[in-house]
Amino acid sequence: MVVNIDFQEKKTDSYKVFINELDILEFNSKVAIVTNTTVSSLHVKKLLASLKAPSCHVITIEDGEQYKNLETLNFILEECFKYKLDRKSTLIAFGGGVVGDMTGFAASIYQRGIDFIQVPTTLLSQVDASVGGKTGINNKFGKNLIGTFWQPRAVYCETDFLKTLPQREFSAGIAEIIKMAVTFDKEFFEWLEEHTLLKEQNLQFAISKSIKIKADVVASDEREEGIRAVLNYGHTFAHVIENQTAYKRYLHGEAVAMGIDMANSLALKLG
Ligand SMILES: NC(=O)c1ccc[n+]([C@@H]2O[C@H](COP(=O)([O-])OP(=O)(O)OC[C@H]3O[C@@H](n4cnc5c(N)ncnc54)[C@H](O)[C@@H]3O)[C@@H](O)[C@H]2O)c1
Repeated sequence: MVVNIDFQEKKTDSYKVFINELDILEFNSKVAIVTNTTVSSLHVKKLLASLKAPSCHVITIEDGEQYKNLETLNFILEECFKYKLDRKSTLIAFGGGVVGDMTGFAASIYQRGIDFIQVPTTLLSQVDASVGGKTGINNKFGKNLIGTFWQPRAVYCETDFLKTLPQREFSAGIAEIIKMAVTFDKEFFEWLEEHTLLKEQNLQFAISKSIKIKADVVASDEREEGIRAVLNYGHTFAHVIENQTAYKRYLHGEAVAMGIDMANSLALKLG
């Protein structure tokens, strides 16, 4: 299945999201996969087997939201220089939203911007983080406060990768799916109430539906100057929860679920 992200104003930013369509990826110049220790040990061999490129390096970072910072970004950039990536090279983000956000950011500033591709491996990053081109890192002042808008050239979501995802991470991804449904699609929300995402067919439907919702919103407001901000539903509270617990106690999706609950309570109080 393929979902198009069509930007009207800047057509060259448009790209496709492929769902369970990853076969062979061909490149004419150097490629570097950015991944973390966990995803690398589980899945990098499979991805490497799908790549055809003059050379392919693997840049492995530590696993965790607490590493989504300037230091890790600098490490990625230095590895790119070490491997002599040039302006025609491509970075491949292979992991969850943390890897995706940092790889996108690195791609957007390396030699003033190179191509990157997203191969998201968590449910949350497949339905949300990998699509839309928001990149960023955290600092002591808060979450995602340093970053860029930099669209990937393509996104490849493979549900096969999700089979190794811990249950807690899977549930955190469902929180973002529910967010998409609540904010933009009543029918989809009702469907979610009646179907389990533990069935592969239902999971694929929910992933594609969430990506379509996000694609439409992002295509109409690439730089978040209007409607796209609705996708931040619950996130103001979520970011504070994550920051105040040093990004260690709650997963991002869990913080979003709590944030949505808090936003709802506040909305009720405000009438
Ligand atoms: N750019 C955006 O639009 C956007 C949107 C939503 C969230 N985000 C960001 O995404 C991040 C959260 O993403 P996340 O929930 O994917 O977290 P994550 O990237 O930390 O991944 C969660 C955990 O799952 C592990 N993992 C990844 N794939 C796996 C697999 N296939 N099998 C087993 N383990 C696997 C990771 O190593 C990690 O430990 C946050 O930093 C958030 O700010 C960005």
